[in-house]
This record gives sequence, C-alpha cells and structure tokens, in this order.
Amino acid sequence: MSSSPAPLKPADLPRHVAIIMDGNGRWAKQRFLPRPAGHRAGVGAVQKTVEQCIARGIEVLTLFAFSSENWRRPAQEVSLLMELFMLTLEHETKKLHNNGVRLRVIGDRKAFAPVLQEKIKEAEALTRNNTALHLVIAANYGGRWDLTQAARRLAEEVEAGRLQSQDITASMIESHLALADLPEPDLFIRTGGEQRISNFLLWQLAYTELHFSPLLWPDFDEAAFSGALTSFAGRQRRFGYTGDQIERNPAS
Ligand code: FPP
Repeated sequence: MSSSPAPLKPADLPRHVAIIMDGNGRWAKQRFLPRPAGHRAGVGAVQKTVEQCIARGIEVLTLFAFSSENWRRPAQEVSLLMELFMLTLEHETKKLHNNGVRLRVIGDRKAFAPVLQEKIKEAEALTRNNTALHLVIAANYGGRWDLTQAARRLAEEVEAGRLQSQDITASMIESHLALADLPEPDLFIRTGGEQRISNFLLWQLAYTELHFSPLLWPDFDEAAFSGALTSFAGRQRRFGYTGDQIERNPAS
C-alpha cells in the first residue's frame, strides 16, 4: 500500500465512489483467454482501486461484483464468480483488516451457498470497527431489489399499524435501503465503454456525477482512476439550484 496519488484538494474529492467493473470478459477474449481469466485479472484492479481510495482518504467505495441479473450467465461462469468471491474473501480479508478497511456486502445473500454467507458474516464482523475505508461489495444486488425490499418493509409497518401510508416520506424509503447509513455516491464510474446504470444503485445515484471509461476493468489503473477524480473535481454539482446560486453560496 505505497501509492502516492496525484494531488487533489480533499474538498474536491468524492466521499463515496461507486463502480461498475465492466469488461472482464472482453479483456480475456482480446488475449484468447477464457472469460474466467478476465475476472481473475479484475481482482487485481479491485486491489489497486482499494489502495487508491485509502491513499486519497475516500470514505466509501462500492463495487458492483454480481448483479441480480448475472444469474442468467452460463452456470460455469456463475460458479467461477462465486468461487472467486469466496477465494478473494479468504485471501484478502486479513490484509483489508490490517489496512483499516471495513467490509460490507449488500444484496440478497440468501441465494449464496451457506459457506459463502458464513465467510461474508465473518469478514464483516472482523472489520466492523475499521474506519480507513468502507468497502461495499454489491453481490446479488439490484437497485430494483433494494427498492422492493424497502417498500416491503414499509408495507409491513403499515400492516402492523405502526405507520400511516400517507406519512411515508422519501427519507423513510431511504432509511430502509441497503446503504442507508452511508453518504450517497458522489462519483459513479463504469468501465468497459458502455454508458448505462444497469440496475445499480437506482435511488442513490439521483445526483451522482457519472464517469464512463472506455478501459476494460482489468486495465483500469491508477492513472485512469486519477483521471476520473480530476474530471469529478471540475464538475459543478447543482442539486436543483441554479449555477449562480451555487457560485454565490457554494454550501447551498
Ligand atoms: C463484468 O464484466 C464483471 C463482472 C460481472 C464481475 C466483476 C467481478 C470481479 C471484478 C472480480 C471479483 C470481485 C470481487 C470484489 C471479489 P463482464 O464479464 O460483463 O465483461 P464483458 O462485458 O467484457 O463480457
């Protein structure tokens, strides 16, 4: 963990970066390798990005590792991804812990093998008091799943008579989402050249700055991450205000 990133003022940095790590399959294909080789190479880019976030003092990094829709992939690729997830947890948890990283997995984990669910629980418990970086892995996650489970929980409150439907507010919905206790992503990055959200953090990305990189995920290196941060630093975030209002009172 010895990277020394290009200087950017802390105030210009995002607190929370969310990434769709796309392009592993194409990276492998370009090298006449099987797709799993691309996913394995992708783990290296995950490690480098985590290091960058720690070095720059970014508070939260959320990575889309496996979507609710990825079960549609060939069975062999799904089981490779599960195995890789498991092996990465086994190999990396201690190192993450030693570097002060808190790990959290969001998504419907009931679909995972019991042994994987147990490993996730152990890793979360071990790292729960760490503060250098909050690393969130979205696995069997979908923005629609997240909103659906929040709606279901609010409906249960209404059924139990603890809540009136007319009293439901946006912040109540928010408080039942998987990332309720964390700041919303400031910067969203998608590698691999596609420009879409693909059912990632649908609610939380409402005001997030979007950055699309043509690089395939295993090639997404320090320079590319720096480039995304520099692009973010140059954006004016308005949250519904006018540009003039923001310039007059940047804390609007
Ligand atoms: C998308 O590339 C990538 C995935 C569905 C899996 C991402 C997984 C990793 C980077 C490795 C494991 C990560 C962790 C956090 C343990 P794709 O296969 O859709 O690529 P393609 O569009 O080129 O086919």
